[in-house]
Amino acid sequence: MATTAPRTPQSMRRPAEAQPAQAAPSLPLGPRLHPALQTLAWALAPTWVMDRCARRLGDSFTLTFFPSGLKLTVVSDPEAVKTVFTAPPELAPSGTSSSPVAPIVGPSSVLVLTGPEHMRQRKLLLPPFHGERMREYEDVIVEATRRDMAGWPLGRPMRLQERTRAITLEVILRAVFGVEAERMGRLREAIAGLLAPANTLAILLFALRRPRPGPPTGSVGRALERLDAVIYEELARRREQTDLAQRSDILSLLLQARDEDGQAMTDGELRDELVTLLLAGHETTATSVAWAIERLVRHPQALARLVAEIDAQSDGGSEEYLTAVVNETLRVRPVVPIVVRVLQEDMRVGRYTLPAGTRVTPSIYLTNRSPKVYESPEEFRPERFLEGGPETFSWIPFGGGIRRCIGASFAQLEMKLMLRTMLSELKPMVPANARRWRSGESNRRRAVTLVPAAGARVVWERRGA
Ligand code: HEM
Repeated sequence: MATTAPRTPQSMRRPAEAQPAQAAPSLPLGPRLHPALQTLAWALAPTWVMDRCARRLGDSFTLTFFPSGLKLTVVSDPEAVKTVFTAPPELAPSGTSSSPVAPIVGPSSVLVLTGPEHMRQRKLLLPPFHGERMREYEDVIVEATRRDMAGWPLGRPMRLQERTRAITLEVILRAVFGVEAERMGRLREAIAGLLAPANTLAILLFALRRPRPGPPTGSVGRALERLDAVIYEELARRREQTDLAQRSDILSLLLQARDEDGQAMTDGELRDELVTLLLAGHETTATSVAWAIERLVRHPQALARLVAEIDAQSDGGSEEYLTAVVNETLRVRPVVPIVVRVLQEDMRVGRYTLPAGTRVTPSIYLTNRSPKVYESPEEFRPERFLEGGPETFSWIPFGGGIRRCIGASFAQLEMKLMLRTMLSELKPMVPANARRWRSGESNRRRAVTLVPAAGARVVWERRGA
């Protein structure tokens, strides 16, 4: 157990908060429930568990899972979150190697790697998600939304999330594969098969097993084999093409990318990054758009203000309310509820000195509702972001530090364009028979994300009708 700081060069000095701890290390208390019940409650209703623990135990608590004995120390005070996110990655690397998605995205995925290998993949992946490149995706997003909207039923309830998922899948396929995406029906089917409800449950149960069994088998294993076959076929085809330099899709950029030693990515690395982008890059955004509409239909004033701004935008008006709606949706209905870091040394985090080995877990859900920062934190009030944008460590829907979501700007652009396209033509309403969900849909776990329990049921009408 290290209690004194090793000599480090100036450039690697830790921020004051991340200094190794001096006091005797201990974990914050947890609920008194048997670990089997904690595990069940966590699997079924993670936000219920977090709310209850926060009320009874405060902003730090420890959950224990059964049968592995695995513990998660949840923190949600913005200062503690800052300490964890700004700690040097070698002291608090990500814990995603044991996340439910790890066996799916593969060992070379940027999502699961740590240390220099993580930085290498991250640097190779970042360029397609920066600045000007993003402009190229705007038309793709608007077109995919319009095309899907053309088939929506008017005047009767529909589950919006199923449609937003179809739209964001089209968008990410186009962004990753370019025009070739048109003929990739088999890839669409393979992804849909992998994300079928029975498989998302199987993936979660698989992740809870200790020791971890080999690669996924059964229907998840077969779905992965189908997905891999299509991806490796596409890689082989692309490597033969001579016009890569003229193409701007993400796959072409990755095939040409070189690391600091001039090395290109191998097929295995490319497969893992493509699966990562395809999965991380569509469900999350689709769910966030569904949550935005789910909130807006229950806040008619906010909806009316947003629609008025969208109408004025065609005359060159601003999009500040749209930005505020997106920020507020991501705050109050974060799709990913937690992120995990594994401490390599004892570390002072908030009021506690946590021992080396602790799986310290910034709760996105609780931090985004910190009563220290937000007035009436449970309420959906986009206006709170009109005065100024969100703050780095109390608005963390995309995580933080050197692991912060690579697609954050892409996702926010996509959310804005999808909402603008939908609301310029159609008006959403709460279905008349939605008595159970009158004040809002609760959340339901879908693998590692939180989705609206009824799929964001809405009725659409043509505007002005
Ligand atoms: C609203 C939509 C999205 C949300 C809420 C979201 C959320 C997150 C979160 C919480 C993390 C973990 C960050 C951490 O550990 O600190 C993450 C990582 C990541 N996300 Fe997203 N994400 C979204 C959209 C996207 C999109 C559109 C893409 C790509 C096209 C993407 C690609 C990734 C990747 C590659 C990582 C791993 C980064 C790393 O470990 O270095 N995400 N995301």
